[in-house]
Amino acid sequence: MRILFLNGPNLNLLGEREPDVYGRISLADIEAKVRQRAKQLNAEVEFRQSNLEGELVTWIQQSRAKFEAVVLNAAAYTHTSVALRDAIAAVGIPTIEVHLSNIHAREEFRHKSLIAPVCRGQIVGFGWHSYVLAVDAAINVIEK
Ligand code: DQA
Repeated sequence: MRILFLNGPNLNLLGEREPDVYGRISLADIEAKVRQRAKQLNAEVEFRQSNLEGELVTWIQQSRAKFEAVVLNAAAYTHTSVALRDAIAAVGIPTIEVHLSNIHAREEFRHKSLIAPVCRGQIVGFGWHSYVLAVDAAINVIEK
């Protein structure tokens, strides 16, 4: 089982960026926790981050060749990107939406996710645990 974790803009700044909202651990620390869980479940993971919408689109397009599921924290693009939504729909790879914060309890512009309708499900609000939960969720959708 191979799972691709994709992280959108500004997530490279985790740890120093708005720690009250996103916590104090870095993206590298989150990756380590994801790898630990994936190892327990015999899954392989690849972890990437980009600040560029088009790069995320390309990675989603290419994902089908090598992965069985995608876990996507599209960050701010969640709320704006028709291109990411279309890429997920085009490729048809099972995709799980994750967020560290509870987007539904924040500013109104974060309540709407353009990618949610084309994702298998959404895990929000558990800080870095959202990512670890997503490993289990991804395996669940792969095995179905
Ligand atoms: C986020 C929530 C988004 O609204 C925000 O733009 C982010 C991070 C989260 O993980 O909580 O950059 O995706």
